[in-house]
Amino acid sequence: MLTVALPKGRIAEETLAIFAEIFGGEFKFEGRELIMEVGDFRFLNVRNQDVPTYVEYGSADIGVVGLDVITEKELDIVKLLDMQMGKCKVSIGIKNEDERDWSKPNIKRATKMVNITEQYFAKKAVGVEIIKLYGSIELAPLVGLADAIVDIVETGATMRENGLKVAEDIMDSSVHLIANKNSYYEKKDEVLSLYEKINRVVQSRSNI
Ligand code: PRP
Repeated sequence: MLTVALPKGRIAEETLAIFAEIFGGEFKFEGRELIMEVGDFRFLNVRNQDVPTYVEYGSADIGVVGLDVITEKELDIVKLLDMQMGKCKVSIGIKNEDERDWSKPNIKRATKMVNITEQYFAKKAVGVEIIKLYGSIELAPLVGLADAIVDIVETGATMRENGLKVAEDIMDSSVHLIANKNSYYEKKDEVLSLYEKINRVVQSRSNI
């Protein structure tokens, strides 16, 4: 039995569709249920940011989560596969009328990705003041809470519709299959067999 932590929403649905394609049958959380067992798998329906925690502590053997979250949390897990979905960038946004100028003193940056932001500006040797937010980051520059934001950009619509522009991209992200380190060794056959099956589906889709 392998326990798989999935991030609630679209990515969970797309991942379960891959399982259905591989194993046949129905893979679907009913109503508000948080655990589902099908065949040799148990699926956990968790918040995106919490997926790595379940995997790192071993409550889940396998997880599906964005590279941005893996990088932000500096996790001690095994990265198995880029699933080529949920593609986005982590970018710096500023107001349309502003110029990018990191040399200005006391620039305030709002983000939920504090570590990624700190490390990026540390490499540039720019001091930063970071304001931690949990969502709707694009609001911060509009009301003067911050001069810039560091956030996920997928279609770019949220920035555009709020009068912001991308000043710089920090990293590309996409959803990855990860494994708990102990599970990777103790259940190696099961984990690698699943990895190979999912990889086959991912590669065949990317060849279309
Ligand atoms: C994410 C992200 C941006 C938006 C980017 O927010 O934080 O706000 O999506 O997508 P776009 O480029 O396609 O507009 P999410 O919807 O996860 O909610 P949050 O702001 O509450 O984190």
